[in-house]
Amino acid sequence: MIPIKNNTKQRARGTHHYSYPCDSWTMETAPSSLPLKPIPGSYGLPFLGPIRDRHDYFYHQGRDKFFSTRIQQLNSTVFRTNMPPGPFISSDPRVIVLLDAASFPILFDNRRVEKYNVLDGTFMPSTNFTGGYRVCAYLDTAEPKHALIKSFYLSFLAKRKDSFVPLFRNCLQEAFAGIEDQLCQNAKADFNATFSYASFNFIFRLFCDDTHPSNTNLASKGPKLVDTWLLFQLAPLATLGLSKIFNYMEDFLIRTLPFPACLANSGYNKLYEAFKTHATTVLDEAEKLGLERNEACHNVIFVTGFNAYGGLKNQFPIVLKWVGLCGEKLHADLAGEIRRVVSDEGGVTLSALEKMPLLKSVVYEVMRIEPAVPYQYARAREDLIVQSHDASYRVKKGEMLFGYQPFATKDSRIFEDAEVFVARRFIGEGEKMLKHVLWSNGRETEEPSPSNKQCPGKNLVVLMCRLFLVEFFMRYDTFEFEFTQASFGPSITIKTLTKTSAF
Ligand code: HEM
Repeated sequence: MIPIKNNTKQRARGTHHYSYPCDSWTMETAPSSLPLKPIPGSYGLPFLGPIRDRHDYFYHQGRDKFFSTRIQQLNSTVFRTNMPPGPFISSDPRVIVLLDAASFPILFDNRRVEKYNVLDGTFMPSTNFTGGYRVCAYLDTAEPKHALIKSFYLSFLAKRKDSFVPLFRNCLQEAFAGIEDQLCQNAKADFNATFSYASFNFIFRLFCDDTHPSNTNLASKGPKLVDTWLLFQLAPLATLGLSKIFNYMEDFLIRTLPFPACLANSGYNKLYEAFKTHATTVLDEAEKLGLERNEACHNVIFVTGFNAYGGLKNQFPIVLKWVGLCGEKLHADLAGEIRRVVSDEGGVTLSALEKMPLLKSVVYEVMRIEPAVPYQYARAREDLIVQSHDASYRVKKGEMLFGYQPFATKDSRIFEDAEVFVARRFIGEGEKMLKHVLWSNGRETEEPSPSNKQCPGKNLVVLMCRLFLVEFFMRYDTFEFEFTQASFGPSITIKTLTKTSAF
């Protein structure tokens, strides 16, 4: 098979759905007089309970089944369990799980919950991974430094907003040329590796006055250095998916003791050198706002490497997976809308992107059905009541709340056909349902601010996903692919790309 095809014809195959969701039961309309019930579930025996739960989670049941079997057994979407990693990495793995769209948003209520060192859940990697600083994402909103650093990010992004489109399109063009080369040479292309590089390239250039990483000490190694640094921090939350006989060995090796930061030091120092040298404008801006330069530099490495690159490197494979699974009919519809609007508007502009309702809906639907960062944690700041659709539960001050987001955004009492990818779900009246799209650690209808913990990259990420699909369907009519689902997201191999002849 010739891997890059020129357009011949488009076959209609209606694999996506056109139904509209119902909004009959939302947080706002849920009855306030729900029965007060004790939170079901137990933590089991000390040490043994957490180990048993983490084996169920990683090896015996898997992530989704771990939660769904407990929902059934306990007849509740709110219950107690332990979350990995457990002993000896987390001192207290006990959480109260929230698995519906009614209870989940308590995690965004910063007056009632605290997000102090909970970015990764019940454990926090050593601050030696970040130059000895607790960086923004680990800070609670009650800490003055949170507002200072968050304001710095928000103002940084606002100042660069005009460069988002040209800069990312430039990175995309480089990436698609790379994919085509691989297809010509090997009859397949590694989408994840190519788009990891594109994501790093974009974010580095955004923060470093458009300096291409290949013109720095990083050369082409930036993504690998960040991957290694991330791996040592996040390994306790992952599994390699090896065959059963290796499970206990893997569990023992990566979840008994945390990896020391010194293993990532030499790579991290290279990243530090690159940002210190090339992110001078942004570091000057940070200093003007009152941040110490060294602390700002470590925060910039974290925001670019962990928050932005770490999210984006999974986000694009997720987008391509779902659009790919929908089939050629959706590809033709997207290509039609994108090409018509770009032609009418005279180019790819922010205002052109706003006039593409199908494209916008598809991106939101991807974020609903498979949020790239599915876990959110927060501790009760005070004694509080959490409400599911069916009951109220008393949570004590200091208890850890944990939301597994896909269960909240695929709640069948909020979304019709919640498990199905409905490409047109958020068009027209469907836009009202955007308040139930929660990928950014907040509602899609709300905005990140210095006083909340919502992702400051929220609008940038949505824009980048739209631009990715625009660039894709300006070049290609359709594609064929294979994927495997790994711990942190899908791994995609592109098999063919059908080049457009029409545009
Ligand atoms: C697909 C890409 C991204 C995803 C899925 C994502 C998701 C998230 C989520 C879920 C959180 C909240 C984590 C928590 O506290 O539980 C978060 C926080 C954060 N994100 Fe993003 N993000 C992405 C890209 C970005 C980008 C591009 C930037 C900046 C340019 C960014 C900067 C941050 C920062 C600084 C925080 C901490 C916010 C705070 O402490 O108030 N993220 N992100």
